[in-house]
Amino acid sequence: MRRARIFLVGISGAGKSTVGRLVADRLGWDFADSDDLIEERAGRKIPEIFATDGEANFREIEATVLGDLARRERVVVSTGGGAPTTEGGRAAIQTGFSVWLEVSPGAAARRLSVDPAAATRPLLAGDAEGRLAGLLATRGPQYRLSDASVAVDGLSPVQVADRILECWEKAADVAATVRTPGVEYPVVVAEGALGRLGAICRDRGLKGRAFLVTDTNVGPLLAAPALRSLASADYEAASFVIPAGEEQKTLATVGTVYDWLLKAKVERSDFVVCLGGGVVTDLAGFTAATILRGIPFVHVPTTLLGMADAAIGGKTGVDHPLGKNMIGAFAQPKAVVIDPQVLETLPDRQRRAGWAEVIKHGFILDEQLVCDLEAAAGDPRSMLSADLIGRSVAIKAAIVSEDEREQGRRTLLNYGHTVGHAIESVTGYSTYLHGEGVAIGMLAAGLISVELGMLDWAAFERQQALIRACGLPEHAPEVPIEAVIDAMSRDKKVRGGAIQWVLLDRIGHAVVRDAVPEEVARRAVEAVLS
Ligand SMILES: NC(=O)c1ccc[n+]([C@@H]2O[C@H](COP(=O)([O-])OP(=O)(O)OC[C@H]3O[C@@H](n4cnc5c(N)ncnc54)[C@H](O)[C@@H]3O)[C@@H](O)[C@H]2O)c1
Repeated sequence: MRRARIFLVGISGAGKSTVGRLVADRLGWDFADSDDLIEERAGRKIPEIFATDGEANFREIEATVLGDLARRERVVVSTGGGAPTTEGGRAAIQTGFSVWLEVSPGAAARRLSVDPAAATRPLLAGDAEGRLAGLLATRGPQYRLSDASVAVDGLSPVQVADRILECWEKAADVAATVRTPGVEYPVVVAEGALGRLGAICRDRGLKGRAFLVTDTNVGPLLAAPALRSLASADYEAASFVIPAGEEQKTLATVGTVYDWLLKAKVERSDFVVCLGGGVVTDLAGFTAATILRGIPFVHVPTTLLGMADAAIGGKTGVDHPLGKNMIGAFAQPKAVVIDPQVLETLPDRQRRAGWAEVIKHGFILDEQLVCDLEAAAGDPRSMLSADLIGRSVAIKAAIVSEDEREQGRRTLLNYGHTVGHAIESVTGYSTYLHGEGVAIGMLAAGLISVELGMLDWAAFERQQALIRACGLPEHAPEVPIEAVIDAMSRDKKVRGGAIQWVLLDRIGHAVVRDAVPEEVARRAVEAVLS
């Protein structure tokens, strides 16, 4: 579940401050206007900051102010119109529930014409309506990434506040919304969400029969409650069980699911429910994406790795004897339903391995998540809270929304994966679980970051301590270094012969580098293999 924090975004004149105060009052929360806080911090008015320091410096102060607000609880924030245009601004906004107040440039200009403060706004000098239309055109793509939007033209501030509160309540269990071009779906994270699976499918407009695919471990534990929930929402539902295990993630297994679906005369309006770990969600998602040229599917991940990673982002597929995940399709589910309670039966080692992806999300993009994980480590109850899982999910969902096909920012999710994948591959995917490989890989990437002078040693030690506290391995002894180096150079992340390293320049901030000297990489790999 998202933090108790609402960010209002949109161009000037949308009414963010007026409405923000009303929403804060109704919730009994604090209200903060980021522009006021910027002026307070700088000791100057915004037009003066723009005039003397320029917009780039203003945006830097703004990102710092928003970063501070992102650490507060129970607060409604009215953000400046350009806040979501910077990386720091976006990262802060993504820690809360964001609402775009969608106003037409004409209506915004009319409101601003009666606001004395508006006359001094640096980006609105001259033809305010024309300038607002220009800002809307350039900032629209960022505003559209918000969790909800409210069209405010013709509504009173009280009506807008009502709509925001409706969206907030409805989304209370929605940890994130994935938005890719043309597709939008919620990721529900809540205790007991499995019992609401049928209702969520109805909410998402799914109408036909439900075909549930699970595996031999998960089926006996969770298929019955899932089928009951689907039946209670009036779905005709049936299930199919595939053998558990990575070695079953093959086209041959997909063939058995195709046979089952086709014998049942599956139709385009029917849908598949993928209930299981990453193997099931990858395989059943791929089956759904390809049968009848694609039918809808819903992911119900039952491992921590599936929740934090595999079920979100639309990568589906199976392994080939010549390589893992070599056959697949990008296909987004209709919804992802995450119930942390199902993790109670997950074997300990699998659970620990799942933490690696959550830790990774914190180190690449969210320092606060790292701090909260440090506080929770060692207490299994807090570690499995909907809050921590939801926040990790929100990070992946935000990245996928920006870059579905891994053309840019999604690469950051590969932190720890260059060395991690190589270790998994060299040991035949039988010695180390994926998350264990990633944990060791994060340490190697951390060491490279330190040796290149990007990261301080204390930050590296924090990463190491958290990995240790989560019971994850720090070394892969006896894995031959030459084989690992060779596997790294054959990895999918190699471009034009150079490995695309994801490194840290501080906790909560990752960058991609392809110019890492070979000997630096080798020393880091050697260190984690010893
Ligand atoms: N699509 C993606 O973006 C993506 C990302 C990361 C990983 N993956 C894929 O995910 C797979 C690994 O996923 P995984 O680690 O979840 O493995 P998995 O699906 O094999 O699950 C691990 C084991 O736990 C069992 N299990 C699952 N849920 C359980 C529960 N609640 N209680 C008891 N047992 C349970 C499974 O039957 C299995 O034996 C790999 O194939 C990997 O390629 C995909």
